[in-house]
Amino acid sequence: MIELSPQDFVFVLTGAGISAESGIPTFRDEGGLWRDYRFEDVSSPAAWQRDPQLVWEFYSMRRRVAAAAKPNPAHLALASLEKRLGDRLYLCTQNVDNLHEQAGSIRVVHMHGELFKSRCDTCEESPFNDTRTYEVPAAELPCCHCGGRIRPHVCWFGEAPFCMDEIFQALGTCTVFIAIGTSGVVEPAASFVAHVHRRAHTRTIYIGPEPPANAPAFTRSYQGTAADLLPNLFSPA
Ligand code: APR
Repeated sequence: MIELSPQDFVFVLTGAGISAESGIPTFRDEGGLWRDYRFEDVSSPAAWQRDPQLVWEFYSMRRRVAAAAKPNPAHLALASLEKRLGDRLYLCTQNVDNLHEQAGSIRVVHMHGELFKSRCDTCEESPFNDTRTYEVPAAELPCCHCGGRIRPHVCWFGEAPFCMDEIFQALGTCTVFIAIGTSGVVEPAASFVAHVHRRAHTRTIYIGPEPPANAPAFTRSYQGTAADLLPNLFSPA
């Protein structure tokens, strides 16, 4: 079990693995999205300039899959941990699905954006909730009143992730860092553990079925699936 004291400040980073048991494919595992798609074609600013229709087909497929998914016991365990720890828990996810929120988590930092939001690719209008799918010819894709194109509010390869200032602030003060279901190959998230590991009196914990690429930076790992391990992992209050 993971013992947490009243002085502990916990930073949790989740990746695609936490949603795998909810039916949302990961990216790099067997059957992962990047086995069927080239991210250069569907998840980069260049892809958007080149073929926005293909990009929207990709995100429309992902919206359909995520819309059918339900939170699993791992999401629920983190929502109850938030109730217990209050603002001594910082939940940062690389995932763009809304399963943490569906499970009841209130403060979820989506560093890679949110699948069910869209925004204009030109003006500064705020992102808006959007569950629609767009599988139409390019000429019929949605546009903003400013004339710009409406794009998914997701961080593409080569773009800067969101909320990085507050994320680094939380990394700088947490006493326990827990990564769940992430392969540790995509920056900047892959380096978060190192930021914590080099500070004294911190614990860095990985939870997942196989060691991530950044395994040496973790002081402890729990091998197994998130839905199996999370519900009974935290010592009772
Ligand atoms: N429970 C826990 N972990 C799991 C489970 C499970 N049921 N199933 C798979 N995993 C683990 C795998 O072992 C793997 O290490 O989840 C990890 C998934 O890794 P990736 O597919 O690389 O996903 P992630 O690390 O979240 O990707 C990071 O890359 O493609 C971009 O922007 C995208 O946010 C994403 C980022």
